[in-house]
Amino acid sequence: MNQKPIIEIKNLRKSFGDNHVLDGFNMELYEGENLVIMGKSGSGKSVMIKCLIGLEEPDSGTITVMGKNINQLEHWELDELRTEIGFLFQGSALYDSMSVRENLEFPLRRHTKKFGVIEDTTPMVMEALENVGLAHAIDLMPSELSGGMKRRIALARTLILQPKIILYDEPTTGLDPITSKEIILLMMSIQKKYNTSSIIITHDVDCARVIANRMILLIDNINYAEGTFEKLSASEDPKIKAFFK
Ligand SMILES: Nc1ncnc2c1ncn2[C@@H]1O[C@H](COP(=O)(O)OP(=O)(O)OP(=O)(O)O)[C@@H](O)[C@H]1O
Ligand SMILES: [Mg+2]
Repeated sequence: MNQKPIIEIKNLRKSFGDNHVLDGFNMELYEGENLVIMGKSGSGKSVMIKCLIGLEEPDSGTITVMGKNINQLEHWELDELRTEIGFLFQGSALYDSMSVRENLEFPLRRHTKKFGVIEDTTPMVMEALENVGLAHAIDLMPSELSGGMKRRIALARTLILQPKIILYDEPTTGLDPITSKEIILLMMSIQKKYNTSSIIITHDVDCARVIANRMILLIDNINYAEGTFEKLSASEDPKIKAFFK
């Protein structure tokens, strides 16, 4: 693993009225790393991710992604940077009225800058689908897919722009344990194949155990604890212990 941070968050503060959601949060994501973030519901994990991709503006603090301070970027620069950041939303957020193929073509058509205008998208769509083991689903509609398949297709749609960073918000929530394990293995094989760096937000201790190179616990509005799964799960601090029961 390379020791160069691809994302750096320093002293991030974000409040909504009197609700001081993030009050000096720090984080580094290194190249090739799988970083797991855990925190109670409402602790600010999604707010942090939204700040990271420029969907929410921090009150203070700096966020640097691939060497760029994201709050100083022009709109078009931010849009370009976002093609390097794949974001897997909670659920799958596929477009129900579009086929699998159309869902995957959508980001290619929207972000023409990265690859230019592509005459025949089929090879790229097929490659992304093969990565998630669902090449045969290319002409299906989302309503014909199971929950696990939808999650895989959403992952394929994220991969098609060949992002350097992937953000996963609760990738295994709502899936049975076997399907969860399949998704986790898939995330790991993608990381290996493309050397992506990932932030994985999860409540799933089994997921964290398998995938985390490092973890950050978001507690009391800050990065309260950091370290490997082994280190944190052995902690005697009651606030940390609560996550590993
Ligand atoms: N746009 C907003 N306006 C006002 N309050 C907000 C807004 N977005 C988030 N919040 C508040 O910020 C806090 C953190 O929300 P967030 O969605 O980040 O939690 P979370 O850690 O992702 O929780 P979960 O695990 O349930 O997804 C909550 O109290 C929420 O009500
Ligand atoms: Mg959330």
